[in-house]
Amino acid sequence: MTATLIDGKEIAAQVRTEVAEDVAKLKQQHNVTPGLAVVLVGDDSASALYVASKQKAAREAGMHAEDHIMPASTTMVELKAVITKLNDDVNIHGILVQLPLPDHLDEHEVMEFLNPMKDVDGLHPVSMGLLLAGRPRFVPATPAGIQQMLLRTGHSPEGRHVVVCGRSDIVGKPVAALLVQRNSDANATVTVCHTRTKNLADITRQADILIAAIGKANAITADMVKDGAVVIDVGTNHIPDASKKSGRRLVGDVDFDTVSQKAAAITPVPGGVGPMTIAMLLANTLKAAQLAASGQFGSS
Ligand SMILES: NC(=O)c1ccc[n+]([C@@H]2O[C@H](COP(=O)([O-])OP(=O)(O)OC[C@H]3O[C@@H](n4cnc5c(N)ncnc54)[C@H](OP(=O)(O)O)[C@@H]3O)[C@@H](O)[C@H]2O)c1
Repeated sequence: MTATLIDGKEIAAQVRTEVAEDVAKLKQQHNVTPGLAVVLVGDDSASALYVASKQKAAREAGMHAEDHIMPASTTMVELKAVITKLNDDVNIHGILVQLPLPDHLDEHEVMEFLNPMKDVDGLHPVSMGLLLAGRPRFVPATPAGIQQMLLRTGHSPEGRHVVVCGRSDIVGKPVAALLVQRNSDANATVTVCHTRTKNLADITRQADILIAAIGKANAITADMVKDGAVVIDVGTNHIPDASKKSGRRLVGDVDFDTVSQKAAAITPVPGGVGPMTIAMLLANTLKAAQLAASGQFGSS
């Protein structure tokens, strides 16, 4: 391997330490403890694991964390009743509704029902609009984590060609919106690719910074990457692996073994983008509590 490893665990630990310090200051100066509420509908075991790790991280940062676990049969009326309570609870500053929701619940309707001042996942239309307008309040955690990884490892996106593969609302679109903004932490030239993109490899080979958020193991191969590129692998895919007790193993969207021979820097999976997502969720929850403490709570 010739590429430098971008260690998401280490950078996430730095961010979490900074958040914990600011949580302590907020308590001391304003007697406010940031509160995070996570709502989980259904019994998906992967989602339950994510919820537990988010809560553990929040508590370790000195925050109050609570979960609201509801059965898969929960109706929209029942879910909205829980969200209404959380929207009105002065001890809760951030609300996260774990996605995906069961099919009968419209995710857009649920996101729009959140108090935008508590939208720490950054998926409410108000949060998305503010990001696009260059006045971000809550940036979705994964894109925010990607930007921090780049900046904290000396790979400023400024003036670079960033190619994003994937156009989801939680990664592809917001990371493109974030990195194209007119400020020194961004200022990138951004291209967004998806399944209808023609000649994908011709475009990815132009990337100074390549962000893969596709959801397919080994979709990005070495021939698609320019020598010396910085490669950020967002993908989380399970592939069969008989050597593991579980019979499977976690890999990203990038063919790590070959791409790492070509790239200047690369994120591993696991241990790359994943830990940053949790760290930035905590940073958003802290920000929500800081806004509340400074009297900006309640307005959208
Ligand atoms: N580590 C983390 O914290 C984290 C956070 C979020 C997501 N993820 C992972 O990131 C991956 C992407 O998730 P997501 O929710 O952002 O996306 P998603 O909703 O699963 O959508 C995938 C996107 O990739 C595009 N795509 C699929 N195949 C492609 C191909 N061969 N070439 C180019 N584009 C292609 C799709 O294009 P169309 O729009 O044309 O269908 C779509 O925009 C998943 O593995 C997910 O588990 C990880």
